[in-house]
Amino acid sequence: MHNIRTLISTEKLYARIEELGEAISRDYKDKDEIHFICVLKGGVMFMADLSKTIKDIPLSMDFMAVSSYGNETSSSGIVKIVKDLDESIEGKDVIIVEDIVDSGRTLSYLVQILKDRNPNSIKICTLLDKPERRIIDVDVDYVGFEIPDEFVLGYGLDYMQKYRNLPYIGIMEG
Ligand code: IMP
Ligand code: MG
Repeated sequence: MHNIRTLISTEKLYARIEELGEAISRDYKDKDEIHFICVLKGGVMFMADLSKTIKDIPLSMDFMAVSSYGNETSSSGIVKIVKDLDESIEGKDVIIVEDIVDSGRTLSYLVQILKDRNPNSIKICTLLDKPERRIIDVDVDYVGFEIPDEFVLGYGLDYMQKYRNLPYIGIMEG
């Protein structure tokens, strides 16, 4: 076990997720359905909890996996689809649910390929944002927390595939 310092507690995560759910429910109140696309694996905890806070609108979900980092903690710049969606998104109001926007490479690529599949609309919801690290500009519609340029883990985010299970966001201290 590494030494991990809490950056965002479980309590703060849930409080903010509740607010995001309220904002999304308000913005989509006139829609028939919201279609969440979870970016695996990091987005899985966030999507599960966020989806439970969406009120009064039917919600469907699909999953996609892309890899950009391998087992390194800095971006290689290579984005590849490891698992594609199961369903068509044509005509749907899509929200991409991500764990973190770092360089912006993953999301700008994803948005580009998903737009070509003719959804009715496409928005991005990320739990964490590291604005200082941005290399490619992406329009993020919903942000949970802006965080400093430090490597974080927990609540879906991994360090070499581990620690996704932590119920809080932490920073490794050695
Ligand atoms: P981007 O393409 O550089 O924006 O990177 C996005 C992906 O890199 C995220 O979806 C994460 O999977 C991963 N990532 C970026 N920063 C961190 C971090 O601090 N901890 C864990 N994973 C990260
Ligand atoms: Mg990710």
